[in-house]
Amino acid sequence: MITTGSITEIRGYLKKERENGRTVGLVPTMGYLHEGHLSLMRRAREECDYVVISIFVNPKQFGPAEDFDRYPRDPERDKAMAEEAGADVMFAPGVEDMYPAGFSTYVYVKGPVARGLCAASRPNHFRGVTTVCAKLFDIVQPDKAYFGQKDFQQTIVVKKVVKDLDIPLEIVMCPIVREPDGLAMSSRNVYLNAEERKAATVLYRSLKEAEQSIANGLMDTKEILDDIEAAIADEPLVELEYASICDTTNLNELDSIDREAVIALAVKIGKTRLIDNVIVNSEIEK
Ligand code: PAJ
Repeated sequence: MITTGSITEIRGYLKKERENGRTVGLVPTMGYLHEGHLSLMRRAREECDYVVISIFVNPKQFGPAEDFDRYPRDPERDKAMAEEAGADVMFAPGVEDMYPAGFSTYVYVKGPVARGLCAASRPNHFRGVTTVCAKLFDIVQPDKAYFGQKDFQQTIVVKKVVKDLDIPLEIVMCPIVREPDGLAMSSRNVYLNAEERKAATVLYRSLKEAEQSIANGLMDTKEILDDIEAAIADEPLVELEYASICDTTNLNELDSIDREAVIALAVKIGKTRLIDNVIVNSEIEK
C-alpha cells in the first residue's frame, strides 16, 4: 500500500491506473479506523480494481466547541488496518494540503436535507463535509465512493451534491456495523467510560423496540417517538438531542410510517455525541 499526503502525487498514481482501464473506489474517513470503516473498504475492494482510503480529520466540519483537537488519531494503526483490508493507497493529507492559506471556496447543500436532524445543532457541519468530499471527489475522481448508513443524513447530503453537480460517481451506502451489544461502531466510542458505554446501548435498544412496534402494526410516528424518548429518559446519563422519523429520500418528517423511513437519534452522553438510526419499511439491505 502506498501512503501519501500529496495531492499531486496521488493524482499521478490514479492517472496511471485509469489509463490502464482500472476502476477506482474511494473510502473517505477521518481515521482511527474500526470495523465500520473496514466494511466500507472491503466492499470497495470487492467492487473496484483500485481502492483509495482517505484519512483526514477535517477541521471545517467541527464547530468551535466541538472535539477537533481531541478527536482520536493513530496513523500507524490506521495504516496497518487499511493495508490489511486491501487498500492500494492511503491518502492522508495535512490541513495545509487541503486548505492552504487563502482557501475560501465552499460547497454546500441549501435544501431541507441539510437543515434538520444533525444540522440543527451543528450549523456548519455539513458545509464542511460537502466541501471536503467535493475536493476528495475531484482529487481522486473515483467511479464509486463508499459511505456508511451510520451517518445517514451525511450520505443523503453527499448524494445530493453528486447529483446537483453532475459528478460522474456512484455513492454506495453500506450497512451499520455494530458492537456485539448493538452499539454502532464509532471512533468517538473511545470517549465513553464504562458506565457511559453501558448506558449507550439504549440507542440501538430503543431503535430495535421501535422497529418491533412497527412490525406489530404501530404506524403513528408520534407514538413511536414517545416510546423512544421514554426509553432514553430512563437512562440518566443519556441526554436526547433529537429523535426523528423521516422519509429516507428527502428527510421530511413523517406523521405515519407510510413509506420507507429512517428513525434517527442523536444523544449526548457526558461530552460525547453519538448518533444511530434504523431504516424501516424498506427494500434496502440492512
Ligand atoms: P468517519 O466518521 O471517519 O466515517 C467515515 C465513513 O465510515 C462514513 O461514511 C461513516 O458513515 C462510515 N462509518 C462510520 N461508522 C460506521 C459503522 N459503524 N458502520 C458502517 N459505516 C460506518 O464520516 C466521516 O468520517 C467524515 O464526515 C467524512 C465523510 C470522512 C468527511 O470528512
